[in-house]
Amino acid sequence: MSVGAMSKRSGISISAIHFYEREGLIRSTRNAANHRRYSRASLRILAIIKAGQQAGIPLAEIRSALKPALSGRPLGREEWVRISEAWHDDLERRIRMLERVRDRLGGCIRCGCLSHELCEMFNPEDRAARQGPGAPGLGV
Ligand code: FES
Repeated sequence: MSVGAMSKRSGISISAIHFYEREGLIRSTRNAANHRRYSRASLRILAIIKAGQQAGIPLAEIRSALKPALSGRPLGREEWVRISEAWHDDLERRIRMLERVRDRLGGCIRCGCLSHELCEMFNPEDRAARQGPGAPGLGV
């Protein structure tokens, strides 16, 4: 498959396809005219990269998940199930973290105090307060 066909089928720009190839995520061979040709397995990898990026998965994690396929072995259904389950758990964790950030940020809207004593964003859960008043650990 040509890079143009890969781009059209995957919805990923040609420059991004070349980037993923430089990053070692997909491979091409050269035809007699020295044009790149990609396999259907590369198209599947691009689909997984796109799905991962839409879910906000960092490229390093996508690469790690795709490791079995980087040797050239096509990814099967079972591997996609394994990858998507791992990403699901990661997404759930990040959603919970973002919900906590959103809830803390609620008190900051239109505040602008930037206070390390009052602001949940600058001093989440006021951990130092559990050690007593003042600045524990600083001898103050
Ligand atoms: S900026 Fe004032 S509470 Fe966060």
